[in-house]
Amino acid sequence: MLAVPPAVLAAALAIAPTPRARAEGKQDRGCETCSDSNSAMNDGDKVFVVSASGLRYLDLKVGDGAEAAPGKRAVIDWVGYTAGYQAKKIESTRETDEPFVFTIGGGEAIPGFEEAVAGMKVGGVRRIEIPGELEEKLGYSRDKALRYNVGPKPTSFGGQRTLDFVLDNQTLRDFNRTLLFDIRLSALR
Ligand SMILES: *[C@@H]1O[C@H](CO)[C@@H](O)[C@H](O)[C@H]1NC(C)=O
Ligand SMILES: *[C@@H]1O[C@H](CO)[C@@H](O)[C@H](O)[C@H]1NC(C)=O
Repeated sequence: MLAVPPAVLAAALAIAPTPRARAEGKQDRGCETCSDSNSAMNDGDKVFVVSASGLRYLDLKVGDGAEAAPGKRAVIDWVGYTAGYQAKKIESTRETDEPFVFTIGGGEAIPGFEEAVAGMKVGGVRRIEIPGELEEKLGYSRDKALRYNVGPKPTSFGGQRTLDFVLDNQTLRDFNRTLLFDIRLSALR
């Protein structure tokens, strides 16, 4: 079970298009309908699909724009939570107006993001969970010196401290280190 309260998830889904994403002129019609799509929190809701890597994912909204492809620059709006530990928010690009931009297949994003974005279309929103036990494989490095060589890196001190707390705490159980992200492919360049 996710530890993220439904209200938190509902807020997470209301990812507004950033001015920058709009300025890029891609066919993103915003995310106003996202909160209707799903949360996997209630009985009868869709459940996460588990990929071969162990990444858990769920399409909250299937995009209808261009499809992600290696070499393209993906403009990502995201919300992240320490889902297994107090469900604290790491970051919301809705609040920072700083989307995470990375070259697909270029080793600039954590593997869980790379995997999630492959196969998405512009306008789509995909929820992923990186299980704590797969953190090194799909998420961030335990090594602080290497950790933010790949993104997304929280822009705020508080957000980074929240994430680092979970990644650095040696006594936490694996299931308390699970991370959840809602990822919206806002544009492709
Ligand atoms: C750790 O995970 C367990 C099982 O999901 C949960 O009940 C507990 O509240 C979590 N601890 C914290 C501090 O969030
Ligand atoms: C690690 O997490 C545990 C459980 O919440 C907490 O009691 C402890 O203070 C944390 N350790 C550090 C170094 O923050």
